Amino acid sequence: MKRMNQRLTTKLKKRGPKMVEQRETWASRMGFILAGAGSAIGLGNIWRFPTVGMLGVLTGWGISSFYSVVAGWTLGYIFRTASGFFSGMKPEQISGAFETFVANPTSAIGLHLIFMGITMAILFGGVKRGIEKWSKILMPMMLTILVLLVVRSLTLPGAGEGLAFLFQPDWGALTGRSVIAAVGQAFFSLSLGMGTMIVYGSYLSKKENLVTSASWVASLDTVIAMMAGLAIFPALFSFGLEPTMGAGLIFVVLPNIFNEMFLGTLFGTGFFLLLGIAAVTSLISIVEVPAAFFIDEFKWTRKKAVTVAGIGAFAAGIPAALSLGAVDWLSNLVSIEGRNYGFLDFMNLLFGQYSLMIGSLGVAIFAGWKWGAKRIVGEITSGFESFKYGNVYAFFIRFVAPAALGTLLVYLLFNPNAFA
Ligand code: TRP
Repeated sequence: MKRMNQRLTTKLKKRGPKMVEQRETWASRMGFILAGAGSAIGLGNIWRFPTVGMLGVLTGWGISSFYSVVAGWTLGYIFRTASGFFSGMKPEQISGAFETFVANPTSAIGLHLIFMGITMAILFGGVKRGIEKWSKILMPMMLTILVLLVVRSLTLPGAGEGLAFLFQPDWGALTGRSVIAAVGQAFFSLSLGMGTMIVYGSYLSKKENLVTSASWVASLDTVIAMMAGLAIFPALFSFGLEPTMGAGLIFVVLPNIFNEMFLGTLFGTGFFLLLGIAAVTSLISIVEVPAAFFIDEFKWTRKKAVTVAGIGAFAAGIPAALSLGAVDWLSNLVSIEGRNYGFLDFMNLLFGQYSLMIGSLGVAIFAGWKWGAKRIVGEITSGFESFKYGNVYAFFIRFVAPAALGTLLVYLLFNPNAFA
């Protein structure tokens, strides 16, 4: 009988591992923390500074599509900076070079394809030998580069002005809209609202202390965002440049600094490498959401699930890649209350903002009312017996979070550009 079972198992294995495959877990807690921080720390920490179930899958598909396009630009800029492409260029030329670069359909789609390919290659390895292994290699690498950049920036003459800009609160700027923008940024930056952290958390063992692990991820994300600010703003002020936001800051303003700075080619290449690393550890976590869904719900093999999720996101990213000047109507897709949105901007608004808020509201209601706050507190205490704030947590998840998110969504209905 035993032998027969064995033979049956071998047979099933040959036919495809799907029936005997077990859900993977992390090899170590550090693995989860680094992968979680790797997810959280991404383009959102720099590029996207402010100026569960099916929805998560849809949102993951939507976000990964345009995220990979922007991440592809960082790849292009690693090579451009390293090869000295910008040296000797005037600011207008650098700015023109960016516009030409993003409007070129071949490089935009090509780099998007390469970036998605790298992401899929890591995800094929699975939780331990893919996500965890690469997070353990890439995250320390990223931190090292960032520390070097911060030191370089802070030792430039006039760096103090940048520090003042970064840390002096401007209370006048604290408006309802800026608070909304900050909430949007916080959700995106912490990878919340589409199940990324739920999927990563599901690969933890029951014994894990969820509070400590989650605090580590959130703290690392915040510290790294602040360090990114310390790497950028002192240098910006030292060279007398205006602080701007978003893509313009990274791809237009910063190359000027690297042109002027001692060892600028080295630090510039390091900066874009850092950004590329931050982006890949984030993109793997976004594509893993639909992939995990296909594996769990449809019993697909990891290979098939990652292939479908990755290729689907690549395809959806093509119009985004063409919306920065390559194709006119994609570059001017819709106008919302006088603000023009290209395809990429619009996907960002729809999936990177609205979907995340709706998804978070859904998670809060499901967690607090349907699945039940009691069970969640049970999950927490299974790894953290002395946890005392169960009632506070229950109150927040059942009342405070849904009320706050509901209010926010209503506000957005009347102010659709509040995030932009
Ligand atoms: N947090 C990442 C960033 O800051 C992006 C990201 C990864 C994300 N996973 C997510 C955003 C899930 C929203 C939801 O770039």
